[in-house]
Amino acid sequence: MPLLKEFPHDFLWGASTSAHQVEGAWNEDGRGLSTVDLKKMPEGITDYKIASDHYHHYKEDIALMGEMGFKAYRCSISWTRIYPNGNDEKPNEKGLAFYDHVFDECLKYGIEPIVTINHFDFPIHLIEEYGGWQSRRVIDDYVRYCQTLFEHYGKKVHYWLTMNEQSMMIVYGQSRVASLFYGEPIKSRKKVMDVNHIMCIAQAKVMKMYHDMNLGGKIGPAPNIVPVYAASNKPEDVLVTMNYNEFRNTLYLDLLVKGKYPKALWSYLEDCHWTPDIYEGDMEILANGKPDIIAFNYYFSECTQAYQDEEEKVEEFNDNVTFMAQSGNKPRIAQQVANKNIQLTTSGMGIDPIGLRIVLRELSDRYELPLIITENGCGVKDVLEADGTIHDTYRIDYLKKHIEQLRLAIHEGVDLIGYCPWSAIDLVSTGEGIEKRYGFIYVNRSETDLKDMKRYRKDSFYWYKNVIATHGKCLD
Ligand code: BG6
Repeated sequence: MPLLKEFPHDFLWGASTSAHQVEGAWNEDGRGLSTVDLKKMPEGITDYKIASDHYHHYKEDIALMGEMGFKAYRCSISWTRIYPNGNDEKPNEKGLAFYDHVFDECLKYGIEPIVTINHFDFPIHLIEEYGGWQSRRVIDDYVRYCQTLFEHYGKKVHYWLTMNEQSMMIVYGQSRVASLFYGEPIKSRKKVMDVNHIMCIAQAKVMKMYHDMNLGGKIGPAPNIVPVYAASNKPEDVLVTMNYNEFRNTLYLDLLVKGKYPKALWSYLEDCHWTPDIYEGDMEILANGKPDIIAFNYYFSECTQAYQDEEEKVEEFNDNVTFMAQSGNKPRIAQQVANKNIQLTTSGMGIDPIGLRIVLRELSDRYELPLIITENGCGVKDVLEADGTIHDTYRIDYLKKHIEQLRLAIHEGVDLIGYCPWSAIDLVSTGEGIEKRYGFIYVNRSETDLKDMKRYRKDSFYWYKNVIATHGKCLD
């Protein structure tokens, strides 16, 4: 057995959160109304108004991250704390000050902030004024918001992520997150492709602006990526899987890294009359604003097969699965199916650590940029014992298996610069509340009872601390 290469000496071990999922304080210090504040949660599931109350606990939370030995903390900025309406004349000083405190606190412990500029939350005012991401007017407002962030925090923050999971917003739309399709769902597939295009133009402009400002840091997108497996070795299953992969994964990164649409997907959009409006100069903007790094979130793999009756299924497009997957002749439509080779967590999510290595290898070969994992984790109900301990062996087991694959991917030549699983502390999930927990740090509240919000160290806290201290050598 050859000796495996080690994690790079400056590897960014850390963990992630997002503003609305941890901060709370939804209407404090001048914060404006955001889509996430109005998101309708299922019965008995908490909203984001108080969340983990990180806004008032950030010092304690970051001290705990320091105790774990974090080298990085991936968090996000709430647009409406900085610009309450999204496009106000002046930024909100109290909003700017909050993130100054957060970043200063990180730097005190030698933790590098990795900052997502937009993580699923969006100013309501901009939706009311012009429909948010559906209008090209958003490009200037987003660029101006980013300029404010770069000017204000540019010396403290060296890693910027332009947008969280554009891929999920486009694939799942209304059913998944509130930010994109707040209000009436967008039924038109062409409009969804317009939104996707506008998002890419906005990000490319911001990446160019960041580089022109010579701040010396790195910037890139943060999509959600899955490996997509063909359900069988039937050629038609393999073909639809290639097609689905273009819609699910490569559309976003090809545009942002290569400045081009994937070919087969484009041909399908043309056939369906779903191509986005491309303005003069758009392709130059894409060509001139490129990322330095690719951050991505990984949870599980997907598996697809061809539908038997293509014509019938074309009529059945829904938000979740079959938007496209196509090309040339039949079969065009991919159907998601369960993969019997994959185990599930107790909450039903697939566990596929090798899938993470597959994705790392594919992204590394296709885009040839440094990679950083900004989410990976297992959301499971934890039990707080009477003595204040939480025995989350399932989480340790899950993370351990993924970290083993990271080391193998690095050995195989992947330029991986960091690993920030989801999540640093317990937080409110996108639709299933806070009892589905992801954190290394337990937050003592339930869906309906805020209790004392006390923080507790889970078993995974001590385990991860040792992983970081041994630089990934000891995973037991
Ligand atoms: C990612 C998001 O898709 O998955 C996070 O970026 C989210 O915001 C995470 O919390 C886990 O998903 P969920 O639905 O369990 O919250």
